[in-house]
Amino acid sequence: MKYTHHNNELNSSHLNQEVYLKGWVAKNRNLGGLMFIDLRDRFGITQLVVKPENAYYETALKIKNEYVIEAKGVVIKRESINKGINTGDIEVEVTELTILSSAENPPIIISNDTDALEDTRLKYRYLDLRRPVMQNFMIKRHQITQAIRQTLVDEGFYELETPILGKSTPEGARDYLVPSRLYPGTFYALPQSPQIYKQLFMIAGFEKYFQVARCFRDEDLRADRQPEFTQIDIEASFVEQIDVQELVEKVMVNTFKKVLNVEVQRPFIQMSYQEAMEKYGTDKPDMRYELLIKDYSHFFKTIDVPFFNDRDFVKGLLVENGSHLTRKNIDALTDIVKKNHGEALAYVKNSDGIISGSIVKFMSESEQDALGLKQGDILFLVPGSFDRVSSALGALRIAIANEFKLIPNDVYKFLWVVDWPLLEYNEEEQRYYAKHHPFTAPVDPEVLKNNPKEAMAKAYDIVLNGYEIGGGSIRIHNQEVQRLMFDTLGLTKEDVAHRFGFFVDALKYGTPPHGGLALGLDRVVMLMTNTSNIKDVVAFPKTQSAKDMMMQAPSDVDQIQLDELQLKVGK
Ligand code: AMO
Repeated sequence: MKYTHHNNELNSSHLNQEVYLKGWVAKNRNLGGLMFIDLRDRFGITQLVVKPENAYYETALKIKNEYVIEAKGVVIKRESINKGINTGDIEVEVTELTILSSAENPPIIISNDTDALEDTRLKYRYLDLRRPVMQNFMIKRHQITQAIRQTLVDEGFYELETPILGKSTPEGARDYLVPSRLYPGTFYALPQSPQIYKQLFMIAGFEKYFQVARCFRDEDLRADRQPEFTQIDIEASFVEQIDVQELVEKVMVNTFKKVLNVEVQRPFIQMSYQEAMEKYGTDKPDMRYELLIKDYSHFFKTIDVPFFNDRDFVKGLLVENGSHLTRKNIDALTDIVKKNHGEALAYVKNSDGIISGSIVKFMSESEQDALGLKQGDILFLVPGSFDRVSSALGALRIAIANEFKLIPNDVYKFLWVVDWPLLEYNEEEQRYYAKHHPFTAPVDPEVLKNNPKEAMAKAYDIVLNGYEIGGGSIRIHNQEVQRLMFDTLGLTKEDVAHRFGFFVDALKYGTPPHGGLALGLDRVVMLMTNTSNIKDVVAFPKTQSAKDMMMQAPSDVDQIQLDELQLKVGK
């Protein structure tokens, strides 16, 4: 028996029609002999009613929650209307009823609200995914993926695949390795991204490529990171930064329109990396609210405040109507500052015209006045190096925005962060690291050669509501510049030959100028569905400690498998 309707479809326009429905039993109750069954599918709920005189009444009595059933019946008017659901005007009086599958009592309740522990939800993910809210996440993910695909195909991009078993690529995280049986002692690496492959596609002449690409990174997990995640990986030849940005803006505008019916304005704002760090303390500023970091370094140079005067910077956040914050609130904010590399958090506040705070005793009255605090203001100050102050105040800015509810709902603020330094110097290791990856083109190769610290990159990140949703660059297409880049990163000729020999070789055979970007699909879906947990939008995610609770992976393997791979597990 094929169903005639989904469970959200029937209403009073279908009265007296005979219908066939299928689905799961969301709820069943016996009211004075009448059996009511809420039948659920991924579209909605329809109420079935079975009367005691019905030939299938016995069957109805056997039904429990989460049984899969099919029912034939007639649409009738409902006595007590339920405005909460689409089908709330009607019910279906059952004429035939079949149990297709029984179900044990589920370990989690199948409803939007759940108090089940996350581990339980992940262990029984197939049940968790039955919850309407989770179904919505998955369906939105599908719609977003399709919308992105559609724009790229319309723009003439080819969807091409690249291998999962490959060689380590330098995206900065640890690789997941796969031992080779045929070549004992050697390993494939799972791709951290298809970066090198997509550049090889450009050399091969596919001038517009994209892929919905699975990537693997063994790194510390956070609320916006998974060890395996999906990128919309894009690359094109004969393009400049602006071309890639325009394409990605089109992709986002179309996707928001199609999936959310939200009009996003183009072009997106552009901000230099330097400005982002100075004013927002992060390379992924949330532009939905102001609250900018201000520089008080000059001001405090002449005032003898312990901790302050021998530090390079003193910067702060001025919070209006914040003087009521309690000692406990401020202690919590201090913890945030310290967790984010800040040395200390000082404050000055104006409550009813009285200036007080942790550093006021070191300041004269005129110095206090010079801060210009209005009634109700509180000024938070952090001393230290540029990097540490930025990191601490960047985190404090977010905490304050949450505390003071400064973040508007349903607002999407895109931003390009541009003008990145090419390299980052690690003082401890006394070496340079690529700020993006080593294939990113320098703005000027001469500067890279003569003064690497100052070298700038043709790189760009796209940020949405404080999350980095994508990153890309124009690539090096000249083998001399690529060599120079590897040299600057301290890679020896042997290292290069061993790790990227094939790629440096490929650059010799006619490489078009090219560039691209990768969007983090999981993060895009997370933001478009208004959740802050990336696991919500991944069908079968890993826990924060990289475990698959359902499959119990990673797990040990049979000795035979280890023997075949000639692997020994250490203690
Ligand atoms: P990048 O490393 O910036 O660039 O990655 C691109 C985007 O992928 C997302 N992302 C993640 N999402 C979930 N979990 C993770 N662990 C994770 N790591 C990254 C982010 C990020 O912006 N090859 C380059 C792209 C290029 O240059 O074209 C790359 O991978 O949203």
